[in-house]
Amino acid sequence: MKEIIAKRAKVVDASGIRKVFALAADLKDPVDFSIGQPDFDVPDALKDEAIKAIKAGQNKYSQTVGDKLLRGTISEQVKEEFGWSKPAVLVTSGVSGGLLLAFMALVNPGDEVIIPDPYFVMYKHLVNMLGGKCVFINSYPDFELPVEKIANSITDKTKLIVLNSPCNPTGVVYSEKQMKALAEIAAQKDLVVVTDEIYEKFCYDGECASIGNYYDKVLVLRGFSKPYAMTGWRLGYVAAGESLRDVVEEMTKIQQYTFVCAPTPFQKAAIAALDYDVSELVGGYRRKRDLIYEGLKDTFELVRPGGAFYVFVRAPGGRSTEFVERAIKNNVLIIPGNVFSEKDTHFRISFATSDEKIEQGIEILCKLAE
Ligand SMILES: Cc1ncc(COP(=O)(O)O)c(C=O)c1O
Repeated sequence: MKEIIAKRAKVVDASGIRKVFALAADLKDPVDFSIGQPDFDVPDALKDEAIKAIKAGQNKYSQTVGDKLLRGTISEQVKEEFGWSKPAVLVTSGVSGGLLLAFMALVNPGDEVIIPDPYFVMYKHLVNMLGGKCVFINSYPDFELPVEKIANSITDKTKLIVLNSPCNPTGVVYSEKQMKALAEIAAQKDLVVVTDEIYEKFCYDGECASIGNYYDKVLVLRGFSKPYAMTGWRLGYVAAGESLRDVVEEMTKIQQYTFVCAPTPFQKAAIAALDYDVSELVGGYRRKRDLIYEGLKDTFELVRPGGAFYVFVRAPGGRSTEFVERAIKNNVLIIPGNVFSEKDTHFRISFATSDEKIEQGIEILCKLAE
């Protein structure tokens, strides 16, 4: 029979995560450590802005590139932060939308894309769908930015380097020193860096460094989903300096024929979000980070996360899938490391849940490990 599904779709393998959700389907009130979104709701002041925009009739398409005022505000912020004189800004449908557009604009079949492993799973699938080749750089066991290994992996086919700090799934925040070192290497080889900074506000031990401060061939991707809990509002942005203005223009062109624009009323609310202080909410997550780390550190091997809301924990005996199956049977939902990695030695915990659930989960996981 004629194959109707495109080969492109078949390169995406979601079987690992599907298996987890199938196992979890019958759980009653589980400790759900699988969630990739905050457990708080959108702040009321920002909800009011969205409602106001809808009621005022701001419900039509916006410009493809994004709402003028929103782009202007983002532009001012990145100008100040990175010292870029004329930033290019594109408002996207979430960081996911920005990633798709960035890879579509940059990756040719056969191009190599350097990705530290473990990684946010979307990078791998997008690159594969576009016929690019992922070059995974092992960052175990400390998950720091493997600068030297990256330098040694660059070939004539290398097109770009993908960074994600704070990192999903490890929670690790790359240091300023590492960012500077990577910037030097990227500059020597004239490579584009795509930096996914969706968790930049969730930084627990000081400011998060951005490579945007040290290198200008960078696409900075940031989002509204995580800091304001607007995952369903589908909003993010891409910002770049002068040297990647043409890439942002290509991305805008592709957005015109795919997403068209990001949701208009929510773009209006995002203007207020940019000035909304989330430090108290982030403070609550810092406390959750401490709770989970202190609860697990004597029983498991894990790196203390400096950001995001994940910990990547080594499974007993380094056998993740087996441990995850046991955990799910005991009502704790965690994700096996092979969803985020070429290895399957660790599992991911999202601590974006109540303190009570975190405490319950710690107790069950520690018992299982003993
Ligand atoms: C590292 C990373 N990048 C991007 C995204 C996509 O976020 P959104 O499309 O909601 O902005 C996520 C969501 O989990 C993520 O963890």
